[in-house]
Amino acid sequence: MKAERMRIDVITTFPKMFEAVLNESIIKRAQQKRKVDIYVHNLRDYSLDKHKKVDDRPYGGGCGMIMKPEPIFRAVDGIFKKRYKKTKTSQSKVKIILLSPQGKLLNHQLAKDLCRYGHLILICGHYEGVDERVRKYLADEEISIGDYVLTGGELPAMVLIDCVVRFIPGVLGNKKSLKFESLQNNLLEYPQYTRPLNFRGMRVPRVLLSGDHKKIEEFRIKEAWRRTLQKRPDLLKRKGGDCL
Ligand SMILES: C[S@@+](CC[C@H](N)C(=O)[O-])C[C@H]1O[C@@H](n2cnc3c(N)ncnc32)[C@H](O)[C@@H]1O
Repeated sequence: MKAERMRIDVITTFPKMFEAVLNESIIKRAQQKRKVDIYVHNLRDYSLDKHKKVDDRPYGGGCGMIMKPEPIFRAVDGIFKKRYKKTKTSQSKVKIILLSPQGKLLNHQLAKDLCRYGHLILICGHYEGVDERVRKYLADEEISIGDYVLTGGELPAMVLIDCVVRFIPGVLGNKKSLKFESLQNNLLEYPQYTRPLNFRGMRVPRVLLSGDHKKIEEFRIKEAWRRTLQKRPDLLKRKGGDCL
């Protein structure tokens, strides 16, 4: 069961990075429609250090700075206390996610599964990384957005928010948008065309103008299979999906 409404809390040292993404387009509208409430917390607000420091040198030596555990644990405790007036363990609808290149790869199915939680708490790492105790004792899951290393977890958190929010019922105007798009059935989407009919001699396939819905459907299914076979044959071996 997908949550009808979600809450997402983001813990970051760079809250301003989220402003543009969360205040535009579909994500903005989803918040206005109260389908999702997104709160961005500045990690420095949870630091007990007089200079609001949130990182320190690594034990054992080595390069870079490591994000300290206390501000992150305090931020999560603060979110829980405010929202539930209870401790973490009693909340099965909440998932605490550490964005990390070492995590499970984010894909269509994982985003859909995350939508079943009514509440996500996203922890964005930065610098050389995050104190191991955050991963071990606080996060329920580590998620990566791809096999490359970024400078921080902010862009990954925005990517995750964007693809999860699309699955909340009522966020996309047309339910069919989700049903037929790429990866939904482990297939890529069929080719799409709009006006003009003839652009610089490049014409729209005749079948799409035929008005014959059965033929159009057949064309689209065939094209979806053809291009998946051509571009992403690995998808066809995957289990799951709703299958056309
Ligand atoms: C420079 S990275 C640290 C990488 C760390 N030293 C390692 O080798 O695993 C800083 C932060 O960016 C985020 N990050 C970087 N790449 C990511 C990815 N592919 N997916 C999700 N988060 C990522 C994580 O939050 C990470 O703590």
